[in-house]
Amino acid sequence: MMNNNEIINDSVTQNNNEKRKGFTSKIGFVLAASGSAVGLGNLWRFPYLAATYGGGVFVFCYLLLAVTIGFVLLLLELSIGRKTGKGVIGAFETLCTKFKWVGYLCLIVPIIIAPYYSVIGGWVVKYFVSFVVGSEGLVAGSGEVNTAVFFNSFLSNSYEPLIYFVIFALITIVIVAFGVEKGIEKMSKILMPILAILAVGLMIFVLCQQNAFEGVKYFLVPDFSKFSFETVLAAMGQLFYSLSIAMGIMITYGSYMKKEDKITSSAMQICVFDTLFAIIAGLIIIPAVFSFSSSPYTVLAEQGPSLMFIQLPQIFNAIPMGRLIGAIFFLLVFFAALTSSISIVEAIIAALCENGKMSRVKACLIVSGIVVVLGVLSSLGFGVLDFISIGEKNILDIFDFLANNILMPIVAILTCIVASWFIDKNILPNEIGLIKPSSKGYFNIMIRYVAPTCIALILITGLLSL
Ligand code: PHE
Repeated sequence: MMNNNEIINDSVTQNNNEKRKGFTSKIGFVLAASGSAVGLGNLWRFPYLAATYGGGVFVFCYLLLAVTIGFVLLLLELSIGRKTGKGVIGAFETLCTKFKWVGYLCLIVPIIIAPYYSVIGGWVVKYFVSFVVGSEGLVAGSGEVNTAVFFNSFLSNSYEPLIYFVIFALITIVIVAFGVEKGIEKMSKILMPILAILAVGLMIFVLCQQNAFEGVKYFLVPDFSKFSFETVLAAMGQLFYSLSIAMGIMITYGSYMKKEDKITSSAMQICVFDTLFAIIAGLIIIPAVFSFSSSPYTVLAEQGPSLMFIQLPQIFNAIPMGRLIGAIFFLLVFFAALTSSISIVEAIIAALCENGKMSRVKACLIVSGIVVVLGVLSSLGFGVLDFISIGEKNILDIFDFLANNILMPIVAILTCIVASWFIDKNILPNEIGLIKPSSKGYFNIMIRYVAPTCIALILITGLLSL
């Protein structure tokens, strides 16, 4: 009888024979995976959470968790992908046949997230266009300006958000349809450097404004009185989301990695890039609020959509060259969201192509159908379907809660369990290239005990918040 190790190796040989196309360079892979990690989470969630949970204390916890648990979970997913050379369903099946169902469960996450992420991506496109043309009601100098009224009337309008949603989804799917090398890798190599330049440029601009230093202090200087268990939990939840863990993405991207590239250094670069970007986003948003708003604390308490689509535009209106800065900012958000959206759609496409044995184009058409149906529902949840809600949550919030607070922690825990209890404990460390017994031991303890316990805490708090 073959042992688990042999089954995995056997299946991997078969897979290599099929010559699956992947990333052609390490830099292409790192940029694409970082593109996935850097997204709306960095831009609107990290700065807000840092501001709420004691500034520097939160950032410190986040960094500590990133280099420990975050890094290990990233190694885990990338190594599962590369070892098996398959998308999520095939990956779990190859690891341990009786856990193929975890692959299906994992696939549900991107299927839920991709549509509503495109809806928000559509709002970003709308705002970019509006700043470029100087839309009435949003941009100063165009009659009466009220950013809250502008945003709410845009959302409750039935067809306009749908058009922008379809534009964003279409751009994503067309890029993915071109394949890993010609679509994803090529676009990442173009978009990520532009993203970095725009972000650093905006940060320098904001930091040169009066009073900006107050914001920097608020963001980075630790206020230990605000430290609590919740700070750690919030930092951990944000970390997993930000690294695109438990969405099937890193397993899929790992499966396209070249065998000779080092997983450890790639994962390290992705972590550094993602964290750096989160901090730069904080150094744009928080000092900008302190410079240009008379009530910075109230503004920063407005998390999520309201901060990005109502409060920040107000600030752009108060800034010299605000229209240009606003357009640049939304272009930046658009690129960040696009590279994330590409990765989440790829996770679905890879699984469909392999398990449904279909061509990439056919898989793209099917995914377009799913994205349109669920995306239209999420979008109309702000308009004609606003009567559908659970508690305070509309359709988009329900999808978001289901994916982030329930399914993702469950998938992450199951991934750790399968990888640490049901397969030979040397397989993944060997794939990662961990040679020293101490590093292997550390990796195994983290995925066996530490990570599942921490994730279970996140799951429980999420459920209690219901
Ligand atoms: N890491 C992403 C972010 O910070 C999360 C994400 C990835 C969401 C891919 C959707 C798709 O926004």
